[in-house]
Amino acid sequence: MAAPSEASPLRVSASPAASNKQHGAAPAPRLAGRARDALVFAAGVAAAVLAILGAPGMSSSLLVATTVPGPEDGLRTFYDDPELSYDAVEGRRLTGWDAKRAEWLRSHGLGRRRSAPERVVMVSGSQPEPCPGDAGDHLLLRFLKNKLDYCRLHGIELLYNRDVLQPAMKGYWAKIPIVRAAMLAHPEAEWIWWVDSDAVFTDMDFSLPLATRYAGRNFVAYGWPDKIEIKSWLAINAGVFLIRNCQWSLDFMDEWARMGPAYPEHARWGKVVRDALADKGDDAWCDDQSALVYLLLHNWERLGKKAFIETEYFFQGYWLEIVDRLDGVAARYEAMERRAPALRRRHAEREHLRYAAARNAAVSGAVPGPAGGGEKGWRRPLITHFVGCQPCSGGRNPMYSRESCEDGMRRTLGFADNQVLRAYGFRHAAPLNDSVRPLPFDYPAAPARR
Ligand SMILES: *[C@@H]1O[C@H](CO)[C@@H](O)[C@H](O)[C@H]1NC(C)=O
Repeated sequence: MAAPSEASPLRVSASPAASNKQHGAAPAPRLAGRARDALVFAAGVAAAVLAILGAPGMSSSLLVATTVPGPEDGLRTFYDDPELSYDAVEGRRLTGWDAKRAEWLRSHGLGRRRSAPERVVMVSGSQPEPCPGDAGDHLLLRFLKNKLDYCRLHGIELLYNRDVLQPAMKGYWAKIPIVRAAMLAHPEAEWIWWVDSDAVFTDMDFSLPLATRYAGRNFVAYGWPDKIEIKSWLAINAGVFLIRNCQWSLDFMDEWARMGPAYPEHARWGKVVRDALADKGDDAWCDDQSALVYLLLHNWERLGKKAFIETEYFFQGYWLEIVDRLDGVAARYEAMERRAPALRRRHAEREHLRYAAARNAAVSGAVPGPAGGGEKGWRRPLITHFVGCQPCSGGRNPMYSRESCEDGMRRTLGFADNQVLRAYGFRHAAPLNDSVRPLPFDYPAAPARR
């Protein structure tokens, strides 16, 4: 598993014979300095334990298990550095991450092959406590199911977090510590994709253009050109973003986090963003999105080379612009499939991406609008984001009615479910109906005339 490397092997064993059996290693490996210290220390502890227990027959493998960090890894990695901290606020700044990550990948045989897709870990999460809203937990379950579906279809790993890793980083700020920790826990991932819990994948066919459009970029978020123009705090949505697993991103998140509630400068930032950004009103609270917008738009000279504000398609879309059009979108996709028998073939879920590519190709000529959806046209939106509906707490923004939020969420989740259910032979009976019915063979061909 572990490839040879210039680093000293970290293999500590009180019994070379046992070690050979377990790892097929060369006899009596030489010990690196730190490992030798660990062994000396452990031997002392073991001697003390043995003396206390009076158990001379105690297996030496126990000693191995308690003293070797990751015996199967063999090689010393950044994880063995006692100074490495997962903490986004109080921990030591992480430096040299690109080299450390590259070394880890090499030593695990995971160096990037040119043809392989870039690995993505999606991170989402919700609060530690049960939702206070009536249907909150049920809705969060449906939102989570939707992300599981998208991830399964696209070979993405999903990490769902419900813990506040850094108590001072409250509310929406809580995503920064978990995204940072996810980078360290997933050196194999090229990208971390943060997706708010209230965002729904509404195009199961769309794959992110990571190796093309976002090549050379380290941070991607959705923005509105007219609001960027006036530097509105609503110009860029902070609820869905892609961030490359690299040193630039760690530094970027450090800078972003320093505007947050865990730092003494936070109050001052509140006034800075209120004065610098449009649409803030009298609100002098520095929320995560205002901080992001300020950071990007006021430092574009420095950050713009690596950051990308997506404006072409619904990398995330505002639900109010979308939900009333979903029935029309579904109807146009069906009409297209009636003319394309190859797309109606039933297939294994594993083959999803091939069929998705074929459907995208067919639909791009037949249905107006950009792939991934947009303000104009009738393509499926990649993500429909229920900003302001607050499904967990139920404390929605008073500008939206209860019905518009509730029906909007149910309609959207059902729209997404139909795309997934198809591989299982079913679809929902109607857009707001939770019952399913079986799909006829060759769906959605026009019914055969009798
Ligand atoms: C949902 O669809 C089923 C099956 O077509 C139907 O029996 C049921 O009445 C529908 N429910 C609602 C609430 O419309």
